[in-house]
Order: sequence, then C-alpha cells, then structure tokens
Amino acid sequence: MAKSERRKQVEGLVLYPLDWLEERSGLVGGIRYFLFRKVPSDANWAHTLGSATLTAFLVQAITGVILAMFYNPSPNEAYASIQHITNDVTFGWLVRGMHRWGASVFIILLFFHMARVFLYGAYKYPRELNWIIGVILLILGMFEGFTGYLLPFDQTAYWATVVGMNITANGPFVGTIMAQILQGGPDIGPTTLSRFYSLHMLVAPGLIFALIGLHLYLVVRLGVSSPPWSKEAAGSEHAEQEPEPPARAGLVSPTTRGRPTP
Ligand code: HEM
Repeated sequence: MAKSERRKQVEGLVLYPLDWLEERSGLVGGIRYFLFRKVPSDANWAHTLGSATLTAFLVQAITGVILAMFYNPSPNEAYASIQHITNDVTFGWLVRGMHRWGASVFIILLFFHMARVFLYGAYKYPRELNWIIGVILLILGMFEGFTGYLLPFDQTAYWATVVGMNITANGPFVGTIMAQILQGGPDIGPTTLSRFYSLHMLVAPGLIFALIGLHLYLVVRLGVSSPPWSKEAAGSEHAEQEPEPPARAGLVSPTTRGRPTP
C-alpha cells in the first residue's frame, strides 16, 4: 500500500537530522552496528553482568556529580556538609544513600562479571588485552572505594585511611613513596583530603571512563564469547564442521591458534 503523504512528511522530518549527522560523522551507522551486531545465539543472563557493572558505574558517576555540588572538602567542613546533604538537601539522603550503597553494588558486580569471564574462559586468545584492561578497571574501582571512604572525614573514615596508608607504606619498593604521595605530608590532614577528593572525583573516574570505552570497543570488535559448553564455542566439534568465513586473518575474524588461516 502506498505511503500516505502525511507519513512521508513525518518520515522526512525524522530522517533529515539523522541523515545530516550520518553524512558528517558516520555516527548513526556506528550506533546501528553496535546495537544490531551479532551475538552468540546461546548468550545467557551471565553475559549481562558487564552491562550491569556499567549501569552501577553510571549511577555512581551521576550521584557523585550531585554530591560534589554540596560537598566541601575541608577538614572542618567536610562532615558538616555531608550532614547537610543528608538532613537538609531535597532528596540528599537518597542521592547519598545511592552513592554509598552503590559503591558496594559496583564492586560486587565487578567481581561477578570477572568470575563469569573467568569461568567461561573468555580471557583467552584473542581477549587477553580486554582481561588486562579489566584488571586495571578492578584496581581503579577499588581505589575509588578507598579514596571515597575518607571524604566524610569522621572517625571511621580517618582511621580506615590510617590503616590503608599503613598497608600501602608496607608495600615492596614503591610502598613508602606511594603512601607519601597519597597522603601529601607526614599526617592525614587537609592536603590528604583534597588530594583524595581530586583523585576520587576527577582522576580515577576519568581513567575508568576512558578504559570502559576501550573495553567496550574491544567487546564489539572481538564479539562476545559463547559459553564453554556451547556448540558455537571455538574448538567444539560442531564448530570444526562449520566452513570458515572468508575473512582476513587477524582480529576481524580471529581463528584459534594452530588452525591454518584462510
Ligand atoms: C568498570 C568495570 C567493567 C565494565 C563496565 C565492564 C563491561 C563489560 C561489558 C559490557 C562486556 C560485554 C558483555 C559481558 O560479557 O558482560 C564485558 C566483557 C568483558 N570483560 Fe568487562 N567490564 C568491567 C570490568 C572487567 C574486569 C574487572 C574484567 C576482568 C579482569 C573484565 C574482563 C572482560 C572480558 C575478558 C570481556 C570479554 C568477554 C567475552 O567476550 O565473553 N571486565 N565487560
């Protein structure tokens, strides 16, 4: 049936800005490739743990930005500003609660995601680099937890940081210097607080955002791996019978090591 004039007009109205953007950036094609790429037919719920981790991180980023609008990183004001957020600011208790509990949710999901990748053997060739990026993300995630814990600057925060600093200082070779740099002086004080605040809300999240971008780029480029019991898994009998697609050797269509490249 021929499209009505009105429908054509509406389509033109919607497609014009998209065509404009696509012609100048290729962004629309890129997003379409990302959203409609092939994933294994037997992908399961465990494959959603990476996206769940990403969601938890985004919640931390958004609630963190809101908290930063009210938080004051000075030893005399920090605790009072946190009390102000919790008791006076509209929905401040909710945003702070989401950020505090969300930190644990993020770390727990990170470990679940890592366990899935490990149990499925998804760290093996050609995904080793993504595993290495993941390890750096894990370290940065825990560093976020450590630096964030000091920010309320109450007794718990202070003494927990003392313990953390002592552990750091006992590390081999670079331990002492690392603790000194982090602490910014002989004691935990004003410099430590502003240093932790800057690391917590600028340096670490910036690095995490950049590394997540790289991590997801590699996920899209290499494709998600099937479960080990899958008929689609590399090396399975079923997979051996399938004719190899005529792709160029290398990362676009990785072949298992030892198998002759087409
Ligand atoms: C901020 C932290 C992280 C985020 C947001 C994240 C996100 C994701 C997403 C969305 C995927 C694709 C879907 C999936 O497999 O769940 C993925 C895959 C992967 N992740 Fe992560 N990840 C993070 C941390 C880690 C860590 C800590 C490791 C390991 C040390 C890791 C290793 C991998 C590997 C090897 C893959 C490829 C898995 C496959 O192809 O089956 N990731 N990640």
